[in-house]
Amino acid sequence: MANKVNLLHGQLVVPDQPIIPFIEGDGIGKDITGPSQKVIDAAVAKAYGNSRKIIWKEVLAGEKAFAQTGTHLPDETLEAFKEYLIGIKGPLTTPIGEGIRSLNVALRQTLDLFVCLRPIRWFKGVPSPVRYPSLVDMHIFRENTEDIYAGIEYMAGEEKTKKFRDFLINEMGVTNIRFPETSSFGIKPVSQEGSERLIRAALEYAIKRDLPSVTIVHKGNIMKFTEGAFKNWGYNLAENEFGSKTFTWRQYEKIKAERGKMDADKALNDAKKAGKIIVKDVITDAFLQESLLRPFDYSVIATMNLNGDYISDQLAAMVGGIGISPGANINFKNGYAIFEATHGTAPNIAGTGQANPGSLILSGVMMLEYMGWDVAAEHVYDAMEHTFSKRRVTSDLYVQMEGATLLSTTEFADEIIKNIH
Ligand code: NAI
Repeated sequence: MANKVNLLHGQLVVPDQPIIPFIEGDGIGKDITGPSQKVIDAAVAKAYGNSRKIIWKEVLAGEKAFAQTGTHLPDETLEAFKEYLIGIKGPLTTPIGEGIRSLNVALRQTLDLFVCLRPIRWFKGVPSPVRYPSLVDMHIFRENTEDIYAGIEYMAGEEKTKKFRDFLINEMGVTNIRFPETSSFGIKPVSQEGSERLIRAALEYAIKRDLPSVTIVHKGNIMKFTEGAFKNWGYNLAENEFGSKTFTWRQYEKIKAERGKMDADKALNDAKKAGKIIVKDVITDAFLQESLLRPFDYSVIATMNLNGDYISDQLAAMVGGIGISPGANINFKNGYAIFEATHGTAPNIAGTGQANPGSLILSGVMMLEYMGWDVAAEHVYDAMEHTFSKRRVTSDLYVQMEGATLLSTTEFADEIIKNIH
């Protein structure tokens, strides 16, 4: 008990020496896991001396698990994440032909990790394709359990598909399937409960961190009862559950229609002055453009599974790419969380010492923040920024930076440790 992270009355209780399960991962997972843990350990030691320490506990998944146990995702691994509440993982190869679509999806579903959280923050010195990367500071809340990703799909030509098509046409009166004989189908479940818990987590996060806005990103103009409903449930939630702390764009529009633009602008300004969170919405395609042109208009983003997938990679590219983009899958209700590198196993560079451990290190930093070990987290941020500003980087960033020094995976991690002051 003494070394377990717990959830008590909705609050995380973290012992001074928590046991943290970790999955090494396949491919470059082996290269980046050890160096990343070394950086996290050094930051914790710097911040808290001997009084706090992470006890790393390896659990198996992926190819290593298959070699040792004959299965890619042993039950003990899932049990360990349940028992210790939070953990961290490297990338995993998606196994072919074992009845599992993806190990990551299996982990998310088993633990019901309904938020995929991706903070998008620029480090001084990192090459960026946008003109003012210092103005990029966004936090993506991607819904992780619903939408077209539920995996309910029917392949064209199969018996079930014909049955489903006939049901749609004969029972539901559907007339607009363009090529009924050769169509595949996919189902997009989106629930009020699932949407609300995601948007609630985004609002609570914004409140806790004093962030200016939450933007609901959706394609509700086309998919009215799924994406449109997501937006409306979000606005209802913001107004009904967080009314004293938010001002919504819907309220703005209502005042404008009833009393004119001047009154609406005044209400918006008053809300901003009072420190209220502005809740607004944007259509996904417009968001992809706007986030490039006016990144400073966006802070917390709440969005559905597929939109979130696209958005995460575009925003990651704005601040240096997947090599340094961290992520976490979290159930904000029961506290379960798995922090993870967002990139894949990069088989093309595995074992060469070229991999950037930044994504996994920063995922570890998110974990420290989640645990409330903020001083240690800040140490890593500062040291990493210092390392980038000296242009001492791994090969992915080296090719984009003039006058840079090329470091291997372990040299880069050691350099960060050296810069922890
Ligand atoms: P990938 O992310 O592994 O590689 C894409 C490109 O980015 C490659 O050129 C690679 O060398 C480079 N790259 C990735 N991480 C890097 C790092 N840390 N430092 C420097 N360069 C890096 O994506 P890919 O090739 O599509 O997938 C390979 C395998 O990984 C597949 O089996 C896939 O299913 C799996 N995958 C696993 C994920 C996870 O476990 N979260 C996420 C994405 C893919």
